[in-house]
Amino acid sequence: MATLTERWLRPQRPRTQFPPYELGDASIVGMAQARTDTVARIYHKGHEQAWDGRTVLDELEAKHGGIHFPEDKKAAFAQVAAVLLWGELAAWSISADLAVKLEDTPAKMAASSQVFDEARHFYVLRDYLWRAGIKVEKLGGWSRRLLVELLETENLLYKVVGMQLLVESTAVVMFRAIAEAKLEPVLTELLYYFERDEARHVGLGVLTLPAVLEGLSDRDALALWWFQTRMQFEMIASGMTINPAFAALGVDPAEMNLQGFHYHNEIIRRMKRTRPEQGVDAKAVKGLFRISRAGQDRFQELFFPTKPQPPWKRALLGGFVNVARTTDRWLARRGPQTAF
Ligand SMILES: [Fe+2]
Ligand SMILES: [Fe+2]
Repeated sequence: MATLTERWLRPQRPRTQFPPYELGDASIVGMAQARTDTVARIYHKGHEQAWDGRTVLDELEAKHGGIHFPEDKKAAFAQVAAVLLWGELAAWSISADLAVKLEDTPAKMAASSQVFDEARHFYVLRDYLWRAGIKVEKLGGWSRRLLVELLETENLLYKVVGMQLLVESTAVVMFRAIAEAKLEPVLTELLYYFERDEARHVGLGVLTLPAVLEGLSDRDALALWWFQTRMQFEMIASGMTINPAFAALGVDPAEMNLQGFHYHNEIIRRMKRTRPEQGVDAKAVKGLFRISRAGQDRFQELFFPTKPQPPWKRALLGGFVNVARTTDRWLARRGPQTAF
């Protein structure tokens, strides 16, 4: 029988594993576990915290006398909203794929509840944009590439690390920052609901990954690290093209990046806490992309300098931004074109 880690790296086909009869095992231990399992609790919490998107949007609109999005900020928000909206659609498909392919009952339940959340996020955000008179824009090339990679990978470990840890945590930080900018009252209140759901989705990764990561061989751990490093580069490149839009909305990209680092550190801490006996070198986070505090500080100062920069450094950063924007447009042209 393949180990849990092997089954995540190379998922089995139904012809070899269906039905997994052990799921019906009525042992005392199995029954107790089913009642107390923390991963399954994500599913139950999802039920308790479920909200009707139509009612919430209608009530918020009534409460604030309609949606009046500032005209001068519509174009910038359309650019940011494209990442959020198409990101929600990708999350919907990815969580549905996880619900099919994850074998153990609690993780399957948690992924299934995420499918409902993401479907709601997609239709509510799209409805909001339509009602606010904001154009649904095309997705930038680097963001598209990243999401397509996550949609296409057969490797469940890459899917969960990429989706639950990287994309979902970025979503939480973005939703929070946009809400804090108080662009438009309906949106501000709406985003609170999104953020609460996304935090549960991060929880699925935090709780299921340690058992898989600790079974990784050094070689597979290195491959995972490389996969995430590539995703981080794609995120940085995508950030460089979209940051001017955030700045135009009054959202400070530097602060958002800092919040992203804080959240990342917190996720790693929470994952290690699932294996307190392993100490600081916890295998529970084996292969995960980690960046030291000093590295985070250097990154922050390079991309979001607070001190006056020597001309060569300014030129270097300017060069990065130009390359990121040019390649973003080039990559976007390789995707589907809009019909409207
Ligand atoms: Fe979502
Ligand atoms: Fe999500």
